[in-house]
Amino acid sequence: MIIYKTITGIQQHLQKKKTEGRSIGFIPTMGALHPGHLSLIQACANSYNVTVCSIFVNPLQFNDPKDFEKYPSTIESDILLLEKNNCDILFLPDTKEIYPEGLNNEIQYNLGEIETVLEGKYRPGHFQGVCRVVHRLLDIIKPDQLYMGQKDYQQCMVVRKMLELTGLSQSVNLNICPTIRESSGLALSSRNMRLDEQQKKQATVIYESMQFIKDHLIKMPFSEIEEKVKLQLSDNGFEQIDYVAAVNANDLSDIKNTDVGAPVVILIAAFTGGIRLIDNMILN
Ligand code: PAJ
Repeated sequence: MIIYKTITGIQQHLQKKKTEGRSIGFIPTMGALHPGHLSLIQACANSYNVTVCSIFVNPLQFNDPKDFEKYPSTIESDILLLEKNNCDILFLPDTKEIYPEGLNNEIQYNLGEIETVLEGKYRPGHFQGVCRVVHRLLDIIKPDQLYMGQKDYQQCMVVRKMLELTGLSQSVNLNICPTIRESSGLALSSRNMRLDEQQKKQATVIYESMQFIKDHLIKMPFSEIEEKVKLQLSDNGFEQIDYVAAVNANDLSDIKNTDVGAPVVILIAAFTGGIRLIDNMILN
């Protein structure tokens, strides 16, 4: 695996690969890699792409500065994991390389409703920051294939919208890969590293709650389900519950009686020990 810290370096390399007729696959990450990230690397490598992963903890997408400061960094083990999992190139830029003009956010993406609901409501500015960095990284790497995880469902929708708005959807294909979980059902997340054993055990209640919602959605009014799930979460150590929702999976709008047959996505966001966890499940 070759590591590039500069744009010029990586662009020269990728330009050569493109002229050889190779397709470029890209996986943006913020590091602290786990098997969820590695599943994206594998999916990319298995499709005969030149596999490029970036590690960049993007200051623009953290609405809480403490969360940014505490974001885990395990760069040495990340490099070993990427090498073992057939990654060809790691892009490891610093903040100046990505934002040479500074962090002033002048570009605004017109994302519509999907920006203001759920995560958007609790993390103002977050998705603008995500769009800004993914757009910038795509401009640098110019991949043919982009790999992202369903674990961050709303992020996938927002990035898809950004690709449409910028015209990048003409040249980049977004591949959404399934969420990798522990056998307990807990979705893998870099933030899990900050949970102690007890919190980790209790956090499986998120998955159990989504199963409960799935089993009761057409049998019980949602307000009743929501109340039961919130109680179950707080009984298991979750001190703050941002949302428990079941919405239209196409546009994250409320489910209406006329939505018969529309896909539904269940989404949960809650804090345990000050650590914010999110998860989702799509129902067909
Ligand atoms: P990060 O949280 O590092 O995640 C990088 C990619 O890994 C995202 O597409 C995310 O959805 C995926 N991922 C995380 N956990 C996963 C799991 N358990 N199973 C499958 N995929 C999983 O998401 C970000 O970084 C940033 O917002 C980024 C897109 C890099 C922009 O800064």
